[in-house]
Amino acid sequence: MEICTTIAQIRGTVAGYKQAGDRVALVPTMGYLHEGHMTLVRRARAEGDRVVVWIFVNPTQFENPDDLAKYPRDTDRDLAMLRAEGVDAVFLPDASEIYPEGAETIVETTKLANMLHGAVRPGHFRGVTTVVTKFFNIIQPDVAIFGEKDYQQLQVIHRMVRDLHMPIEIVGQATVRESDGLAMSSRNVRLSPEDRAAAVVLSQSLAAADAAAKTGATVAELHQIIGDTIGAEPRAKLVGCDIVAAETLADISGPLTGLTAIMISVEVGGVMLIDQKEVTP
Ligand code: PAF
Repeated sequence: MEICTTIAQIRGTVAGYKQAGDRVALVPTMGYLHEGHMTLVRRARAEGDRVVVWIFVNPTQFENPDDLAKYPRDTDRDLAMLRAEGVDAVFLPDASEIYPEGAETIVETTKLANMLHGAVRPGHFRGVTTVVTKFFNIIQPDVAIFGEKDYQQLQVIHRMVRDLHMPIEIVGQATVRESDGLAMSSRNVRLSPEDRAAAVVLSQSLAAADAAAKTGATVAELHQIIGDTIGAEPRAKLVGCDIVAAETLADISGPLTGLTAIMISVEVGGVMLIDQKEVTP
């Protein structure tokens, strides 16, 4: 596995792959990898001949410097996991390589980035689209894999790639779940055994909403089902539930007319968990 820390190194490595006619699949990460990331890596292996992973804790997508400083890092462990998975190259640049002195250019999806999660985390998605554009320009992959768990991020990336005519295929990878349905997340380890058991209520509420959507439930009824299911679990508190049109993330009401995304944020034992599901009428 090649480990590249400079733009020149990763460009040289990827140029070699392309000269050999290989299709390059990219997995973007901020490190501290878990099984969910490994699923993205395996999907990349299925989508391309060469798998490149980037590990970069992107400062511009954190609104709070404290969150950035506290973001967990374990590069040695990450590299061991990627090596075991047969990854071809890893790009691990310093922030100064990616954001040189005087960098002032930003990339933003002006609507999608500023609604829902973006409305409560101003600047977050702008930081994501800016860094993803930089890495796409540096690595020039044929295909890039993003998790569906970060649903709004995936839609933002789709829109950016479409609007800016980037010649890169974006693949959304389904959320990886524990056997009881809890979406995998590095946050799950912070749950006590009781809270861990209670956290199953997130996927249960989405499954209940999915079943109701199929029998003609309206948006208001879906909100009610999510609220009631989460409300029945004393350890869980529903913090947010957005039911929106899948691609545009636009607000909807009344009966569902097409692909609809349900995104929930739930606090369990002081840990904020998110989950999402696409449902159809
Ligand atoms: O999803 C993430 O881990 C990050 O937002 C990404 C796409 C790697 C950009 O920093």
